[in-house]
Amino acid sequence: MNILILGGGGREHSLAWAVKQNPKCDRLIVAPGNAGIAQIAETAALNIEDGDAVASFCADNAIDFVIIGPEAPLAAGVSDVLRAAGLTVFGCSQAAAQLESSKAFTKAICDACAAPTAKYAHFTETEAAKSYVSKHGAPIVIKADGLAAGKGVVVAMDIETAHAAIEDMLGGQFGDAGAEVVIEEFMEGEEASYFLLCDGETVLPVGTAQDHKRAFDGDEGPNTGGMGAYSPAPVLSDAVAEKALTEIIQPTVAEMAKRGTPFQGVLYAGLMIKDGQPRLVEYNVRFGDPECQVLMMRLGGQILDLLHACATGRLAEVSPKWADDHAMTIVMAADGYPGSYEKGTVIKGLEALPETSSEMTFHAGTTQANGAITATGGRVLNITARGSSLKDAHTKAYAMIKQIDWPEGFYRTDIGHRAL
Ligand code: AMP
Ligand code: GLY
Repeated sequence: MNILILGGGGREHSLAWAVKQNPKCDRLIVAPGNAGIAQIAETAALNIEDGDAVASFCADNAIDFVIIGPEAPLAAGVSDVLRAAGLTVFGCSQAAAQLESSKAFTKAICDACAAPTAKYAHFTETEAAKSYVSKHGAPIVIKADGLAAGKGVVVAMDIETAHAAIEDMLGGQFGDAGAEVVIEEFMEGEEASYFLLCDGETVLPVGTAQDHKRAFDGDEGPNTGGMGAYSPAPVLSDAVAEKALTEIIQPTVAEMAKRGTPFQGVLYAGLMIKDGQPRLVEYNVRFGDPECQVLMMRLGGQILDLLHACATGRLAEVSPKWADDHAMTIVMAADGYPGSYEKGTVIKGLEALPETSSEMTFHAGTTQANGAITATGGRVLNITARGSSLKDAHTKAYAMIKQIDWPEGFYRTDIGHRAL
C-alpha cells in the first residue's frame, strides 16, 4: 500500500513511525513532514489545505491511502475532495469537522442526543453576553465559537475577567472564530482524553490519555498545546469509559448519522470526570498532540489496519490488541513558548538516543539545516517511552531527555504527577 500522511508535527511523526512498522506499508510519504520524519519516510512540500493539490499529488504518486493528521485540512474539506476523487481517506468530512470547528454546533448536538456536558448559552451581542455572566456569576467559561488555535477559551475565576474575555472575543480578537461566544458553566473534576475510531456507524475505542496543558511544573503558567502525556489514563477506568461511550459518544455518532453527516475518522473526546461521571468538555476530530505519540507507541504497526478499516467501513471486523503497558511522552519546547521564541537554534545529542519499539524521540518543530537539526517551532521534540508501568516509562523518558543538548529548550519535570 502506498500511503500519504498529511501533517508535520510530533503527531504525524508518531503516526508515520507506527504505520511503517506494518508490512502492508510499501511507500510512505509525509507532507510536509519535518526533520525527524525525513529520517523514516519520504517528505513532500504540499499545501495540505488545498484538496485539489493533494488529489493530484496522490494521482501522480499512485497513493492508495491518505491519513489526515491535523484539523485544518479536515475543516477545509480536504477529505471530501479526496473521496470525490476516489481515494481511500482516514479523516472526517468538512460537515462532521464542525464537531471541532464550532463549539455551538457541538453543544447543539449534545442537546439533541442528551449527552452530559456543561450548561451553556451563546451570544453575538456583547451586552447580552455580559449580563448573562453577571446573572450566573463566576467561575464561568468563555469560549470563542470557532477554531482559535487552542487560545479561544478563558476559564474566568471572576466576573471582570469574564467580561474582558467577552469584549475581546466579540470585539474581533479572533476574527470570524470569535463572532459568536459560547458561555459555559464551570465544571469541576479531572480531565482526560478518550480516543475512538468511527466509521460512520461502529465506534472502536483506541485508548485513553492525559495531557498537561500548562507550560510549567505544578500546572502553572500559560495554557499550551500540551506539554506531555501518558496512556492509559487511570481516571478513565473501564466503568467511566463505558459510561462515556454509551452516554456521550455513541449518541453523538448516531445523531451525526441521523443528520446525514456521519462521522468517519477519530473522535477525541475531552472529558471532565467527577465522582465517576464523565461530562463532555469538547470534541476534536483528530488525534491529540502529544496524546497521539503515546497511543502510537502502545499500538505500533496494527494502527494501519485499524485506520484502514475505519476508512473503508469495516471497523466492526477489527479490534486493537493491547499489551499491559504504559507510555509517556515529554514535550521539549523552545524557551518563550507559548509566547514568542527564537527559531533556528541547534539541537545536539539526538544521534545517541535509543530508537526502539519502546523508546523514540518524535520531532515536532524541527528542520534539517547545514547538517544540523534546528528548532523551528514552539513545541519541538516529544521524548517518548513505553514500560511495564507508568513509573518505568517515566524513568526511561526522563533518562533520554537528559542526554539532549539544547540550551534554548525547556520541559516540565513533573509529567505524570497525577497518576504516579
Ligand atoms: P477546550 O478548548 O474546550 O478544550 O477548553 C480548553 C480547556 O479549558 C479545557 O481543556 C479545560 O481545561 C478548560 N475548560 C473548558 N471548558 C470548561 C468548563 N466548562 N469547565 C471547566 N473547564 C473547562
Ligand atoms: N493536546 C491537546 C490537543 O491536541 O488538542
